[in-house]
Amino acid sequence: MDKLIITGGVPLQGEIRISGAKNAALPILAATLLADGPVKVGNIPHLQDITTTMELLGRMGVELVVDERMNIEVDCSTIRELFAPYDLVKSMRASILVLGPMLARFGEAVVSLPGGCAIGSRPVNLHIEGLVKMGADVHVEGGYIHAKARRLKATRLVMDLVTVTGTENLMMAATLAEGTTVIENAAREPEVVDLANCLNAMGAKVSGAGSDSISIEGVDALFGTRYDVLPDRIETGTYLAAAAITGGHVRIKDTQPRMLEAVIEKLREAGASVEVGDRWIELDMNGSRPRATNIRTSPYPAFPTDMQAQFTSLNVVSDGTGTISETVFENRFMHVHELQRMGADIQLEGNTAVIRGVNRLTAAPVMATDLRASASLVLAGLVAEGDTVVDRIYHIDRGYESIEEKLAKLGARIRRVPA
Ligand code: EPZ
Repeated sequence: MDKLIITGGVPLQGEIRISGAKNAALPILAATLLADGPVKVGNIPHLQDITTTMELLGRMGVELVVDERMNIEVDCSTIRELFAPYDLVKSMRASILVLGPMLARFGEAVVSLPGGCAIGSRPVNLHIEGLVKMGADVHVEGGYIHAKARRLKATRLVMDLVTVTGTENLMMAATLAEGTTVIENAAREPEVVDLANCLNAMGAKVSGAGSDSISIEGVDALFGTRYDVLPDRIETGTYLAAAAITGGHVRIKDTQPRMLEAVIEKLREAGASVEVGDRWIELDMNGSRPRATNIRTSPYPAFPTDMQAQFTSLNVVSDGTGTISETVFENRFMHVHELQRMGADIQLEGNTAVIRGVNRLTAAPVMATDLRASASLVLAGLVAEGDTVVDRIYHIDRGYESIEEKLAKLGARIRRVPA
């Protein structure tokens, strides 16, 4: 397995561009199954999860044409298998997103249960319950979800809790249902809005995306279109945190600042001066050490769980004591043990980490356990004394396009060594 070697001590300087959002591209690629004609999706990031999604669609018989700029044209008129196998779904849980579109468009679907992952059990009961309420006949057997529906029927769904992909799956299913579906307690993430915008470009009638109540008026068919995915707010936040932890000064381009208001607010609390434009964010620590902040993760627009690990690392070297409470996932502190090996002073109390800032971290061999934990170890490596070796970086390659190139462009001393 490839490793990343990072020699700490360089304040990041310069500017980088942000790639398309992984968590918007994945549902939008699944949504192409709903269209009668080819859908061309642009600004797709070059990531392992995208490759996995293309392999999944390809195995189903869907035609994919990819150009050198990672525009992907999907034509599902050649589809021959309504089946998502365990070996692919277990490597990428977001494969569950083909369930709703397949059922709505083709009337049946067999999709492997995703199973848990490092950060939690991550059930999909709310996806299934929503489809059953829309009239689908669903049973789980042999680790697979077997779903059938002649035509889904609109209904009012009140979600027990906020689920991003649950909202997305049910929104996609409702686009071809009979009648108008309302999803209450819906996820408000920008990626949900991006998916809704893409569905409407395909002829759907979705309104209210971005609020906690989404209305979808079913139509008879959706058609092909061209759609560009929005920028990745978590990639953006990760590089801003990298600049903050190293006391640097960076400009992030091709992003959307209004998607990160909670993160920008916390960076300012940590002592960063942050300027924003329509499509850029500039952060300057003015050479100062960050101040500790208190974080509590919650669904959008509150502080995102996907930025929790990065801010854990930031607090580790900040001035003062900060607490970080993780309310979304039950096991998202796997990075803490690795950070402690680098000299971090962190006490875990249930779903809260109490972090006393230290003046220095020392490099160590560390192991990535999940996508955002990996990013937090890279951030710690950027300030640790010596060479930090991050192992199992396939986790990182799932969600960060060319991370070592982008960090090196900002002056970091980082290199990838093949296993
Ligand atoms: C999406 O995962 C993201 N993935 C995650 O990003 C992100 O961390 C998460 O939303 C929260 O923002 C994609 O969009 C592909 P949830 P998702 O359903 O949809 C519970 C990353 O790093 N739940 O919003 O799987 C669940 O266990 C990834 O890019 C149920 O109980 O998350 C969790 O505690 C990691 N039953 C909570 O809801 C269900 O049927 C929120 O999960 C569904 C969810």
